[in-house]
Amino acid sequence: MILEQIATGGCQSYLVGCSDSSSAALIDPEISQIDHYLALAARDGLRIRYLIDTHTHADHFSATRQLARQLAVPVLMYRTSAAPFVDMRIGDGEMVMLGRLRLQVMHTPGHTSDSMCLQIEDSVFTGDTLLIGGTGRTDLPSGDPEALYDSLFQRLLKLEPKVRVFPAHDYKGRQSSTIGEEIASNPRLQKRDRAAFVDMMRELNLSMPRHVTEALRTNMSGGKSVAQLLAEAAARVPFMSLPELKARVEAADEDLIVLDVREREAYESGHVPGARLLPRGQLELRVNQELPDPTRRILTCCELGQVSTLAAATLREMGFPHVVALDGGMKAWRVAAYPLNSGAEP
Ligand SMILES: [Fe+2]
Repeated sequence: MILEQIATGGCQSYLVGCSDSSSAALIDPEISQIDHYLALAARDGLRIRYLIDTHTHADHFSATRQLARQLAVPVLMYRTSAAPFVDMRIGDGEMVMLGRLRLQVMHTPGHTSDSMCLQIEDSVFTGDTLLIGGTGRTDLPSGDPEALYDSLFQRLLKLEPKVRVFPAHDYKGRQSSTIGEEIASNPRLQKRDRAAFVDMMRELNLSMPRHVTEALRTNMSGGKSVAQLLAEAAARVPFMSLPELKARVEAADEDLIVLDVREREAYESGHVPGARLLPRGQLELRVNQELPDPTRRILTCCELGQVSTLAAATLREMGFPHVVALDGGMKAWRVAAYPLNSGAEP
């Protein structure tokens, strides 16, 4: 078995492959690591055959759907998962084949109702059902402390003590543990009475993970996160640095149209000398009047450099091949004490 563990903050993803057949599965991939996963698979001589989410994640952005499109391989989740883009729904006690490896599913509801653990040989990928020195929380949508108790004590912890545990999270940089070590020392597993365990889980009072609404929205629908939209736009446009723009403004470069896409109030309070105003919200509707010549060089700018990236990508899509976005925004321009005009341009 070939195993790569990839951490993204506290989130853990796993690339697991069969060394004989070179076929592999990617477990709980995160959207910002797509190139990393593909590079590791290439380095290890693996072909990814399955993209697996152990459950509907509320705290990271799953890469399964995007990778499924890119690689033309199925997304696999537990059979009751809400995500409409799941290609292969799998049930408790079922397996998928990875060459000579068998990846066996154990349904372990509790953290979410669609949580499953995946056992391959002497390793178990526990998702957020069992963590090193912890368990998944049960206070997010479809969480259930009673179900988690049953999943742990009736199922998962009955595996052999030597089975290695690979969780979907670890915030302390640890990589794995074993079932035996967790039974012995995991503080949450010391409440072996069902009611005491359930009370402990109900009293945890954890703060909500960051981006929970956005993560659930995108992971359950297959839609895109804001960061993903920005990254896709940024990949389609060239950028110009602040000092380069300043030099061009000072040289009175007539060839470059600086297009400020903020609202009028922000523009009038201070903009790049000579910049024209065309708020992002009006861009598509006013572009024909404001920018009649699509062959002009145009630079978009905004407050932070994100909306201007989206605007530049939109303009390129609309047939302006010489649009670039400012690398940074007016906030950084002001911090650098670069020249500003206020009010309307003549
Ligand atoms: Fe989770």
